[in-house]
Amino acid sequence: MAMDLRHLRPDRNHGGPIYLQLYRRYRDAIAAGKLRPGDRVPAVRSLASELNLARGTVELAYQMLASEGYLLARGPAGTFVSPGLEPLAQTPRAARGARPAAAPTGMAAVPAPRPFQLGLPALDAFPRKTWVRLAGRTLRSLGMAAMVHPDPAGYEPLRRSIAAYLGISRGIACTPAQVFVTNGYRGALQLACRALLEPGDEGWYEDPGYPYARRLLEDEGMRLAPVAVDEEGLDVGQGIRRAARARFAVVTPTHQSPLGMALSLPRRLELLEWAGRSAAWIVEDDYDSEFRYHGRPLPALKSLDAQGRVLYAGTFSKALFPGLRLAYLVAPQAQAARLQEAAQRLPGPGAVPLQAAVADFMDQGHFARHLRRMRALYAVRRGFLVDALDAVFGGRLHVQPQAGGIHVLAHLAGRRSDRAIAAEARARGLAVQALSDWRIRKSAAGGLLLGFANLQSADEARAQAERLRAAFDAAR
Ligand SMILES: Cc1ncc(COP(=O)(O)O)c(C=O)c1O
Repeated sequence: MAMDLRHLRPDRNHGGPIYLQLYRRYRDAIAAGKLRPGDRVPAVRSLASELNLARGTVELAYQMLASEGYLLARGPAGTFVSPGLEPLAQTPRAARGARPAAAPTGMAAVPAPRPFQLGLPALDAFPRKTWVRLAGRTLRSLGMAAMVHPDPAGYEPLRRSIAAYLGISRGIACTPAQVFVTNGYRGALQLACRALLEPGDEGWYEDPGYPYARRLLEDEGMRLAPVAVDEEGLDVGQGIRRAARARFAVVTPTHQSPLGMALSLPRRLELLEWAGRSAAWIVEDDYDSEFRYHGRPLPALKSLDAQGRVLYAGTFSKALFPGLRLAYLVAPQAQAARLQEAAQRLPGPGAVPLQAAVADFMDQGHFARHLRRMRALYAVRRGFLVDALDAVFGGRLHVQPQAGGIHVLAHLAGRRSDRAIAAEARARGLAVQALSDWRIRKSAAGGLLLGFANLQSADEARAQAERLRAAFDAAR
């Protein structure tokens, strides 16, 4: 295809960063039908030289377009407008991020994500076509094995896929028999409680920490001892001083939830040593390790677990989508039988065809590809939010840099109440959470927790930051 490159030429004086202009020009050209699905686009090098731009600028724009599904890189064959974009080329509104009135799948009933919603991956970038194809195929080819009462420990092929994935990506050596598929992370915690703990048992809980899991543990009869978190993660020494006889500890070693630091190696070793010495269990909640933007991903704590004290929990809520309600728990080898027995007394993770579709998605390489694309996309979207907060709030909010995850924590300058601001923001339709609501003990240091995965453009981030600013100004 001979493309008219004049349409793409960015304006150096107006219109914001060059890569964003280029990205928008492409998006608009595709939406307007000037570029058709299957069209080949110029190579990075030739476009950069034609438009007199740095190669990195063009690369960044292409990367964004590819991660949002507009472009498809086919190695040496070149880069093409994604062939799956037919309907989009006919409905320009969709290109501007408007959600379709009726989604083609049963997921239509899911409400649109609210701005800043935590824990929600980029729903617009989920590879629906591939997913629907795989899920459709598992339903059409439903064998007898998928129709009988399922094993509450999880569908065997999915347990195998998870074990293989964890070996490669998280350095965890485990067999499928150690992997239990659960109904979300809370299902994983419930299984751990029922298999290994008794009501009344005491456990360390990070302060601040994930409030939904805290509630589940309390509902299971656990007594939680709050343990502070500092720049090295959980303060193991404090845990030992305050509750040395605890039976368990729940930790987020890769990316502390919600503050974001990693548990340092000395602390990891101290924690493992304590658990070994006291025959206590460690639940490692590795909820968003897939998304890391700089530095090498840290191996899981579980990979250092020589004494078999760590139960490793992962979830598909962020890697795929939370509506699946699928997570998993990896038991130490010696405890697999106890967990298997406890799993038989719980409802299990639900429908087999869904679990089968996830297994196919992983085995066919879609999972790894999706995660790669999302890593690049989230790095860009995080930039949208950080830049917008900077521009709109100046020094009034301090965004703490985090190496990974899909939310940012913005600290408040002065003595403003994070709860009051978050409440005002929620009243205006923004799904902002206050750091204080994640704390067990009171602390003066408030902050706002803001999800960024669904902010589709710099303009959208700016508009939402301005709505947040209005709430910030109005809150007392
Ligand atoms: C700290 C933490 N752990 C675990 C999860 C996963 O929960 P689930 O698998 O129930 O969606 C989340 C989800 O937001 C989380 O923030």
